[in-house]
Amino acid sequence: MRRRPHYGYYALPVVCSLSGAVIALGILTYLLISKLLGMLFTAFGACTLAAYALSMLLLHQDRAAEFSDILELKGDELVLDAGCGLGKVAIGVAKNLKSGRVMGIDIWDRREIPGNSPEKAYENAEIEGVADRVEFRYGNVLAIPFPDETFDLVTCGSVLNNLSNEEKVKALREMHRVLKPGGRFLLIEPLRNLRGLFLFTPFGFWKLLKEQGFAVVDYHCCDGMGWFICEKH
Ligand SMILES: C[S@@+](CC[C@H](N)C(=O)[O-])C[C@H]1O[C@@H](n2cnc3c(N)ncnc32)[C@H](O)[C@@H]1O
Repeated sequence: MRRRPHYGYYALPVVCSLSGAVIALGILTYLLISKLLGMLFTAFGACTLAAYALSMLLLHQDRAAEFSDILELKGDELVLDAGCGLGKVAIGVAKNLKSGRVMGIDIWDRREIPGNSPEKAYENAEIEGVADRVEFRYGNVLAIPFPDETFDLVTCGSVLNNLSNEEKVKALREMHRVLKPGGRFLLIEPLRNLRGLFLFTPFGFWKLLKEQGFAVVDYHCCDGMGWFICEKH
């Protein structure tokens, strides 16, 4: 049977424990305090779980990110994927390279993706036939372990929305630093997240990107994600 890659269920432990707690609170409230309030809590917890399941279905986590329509690559680029996780973006880019290479860095936080590890990322790369074009190593986006102006393209998918505002700025500065002048930066962020209804919208990134020296040259929405294509000035 053909093996399929899997790029992981983002934030699964957090979503399950939060919705589980709200549902348990709803049941207790229903039994001890108020039936109406209890039903409201329980429905809220169940809707959060259902919305999460829907967002994971939309993300197609058994497929690498698709780049051919979004970025025209020559094939010889040196690429950094910052916060690569199990390789969804890194492997998607690598499929469009010939002599080029993708370097994926991550701190492999298992609260963000169950089973998050470089071994699992390499396994996905092997299944997708790009193991010779990717390298995964430990690295923090807040202090990227590469010299200035190393990469032709930097990508970063679903990483910044979990960082504080200060850390977002720091990470963007680091990604700008390691990008060659005229190089491109692709930022992929969810259109909204659990914290985000009011505190975060992807449009907030427009200002942040500009302030860190990126020009947003194109913007796409697909599969519930916003894709910002930028150039380094
Ligand atoms: C939601 S996952 C997205 C993974 C991958 N980019 C993708 O699109 O499938 C977020 C990833 O960011 C990583 N991460 C979080 N903070 C980081 C940091 N400071 N430096 C590097 N990676 C980080 C987590 O370990 C996790 O793998």
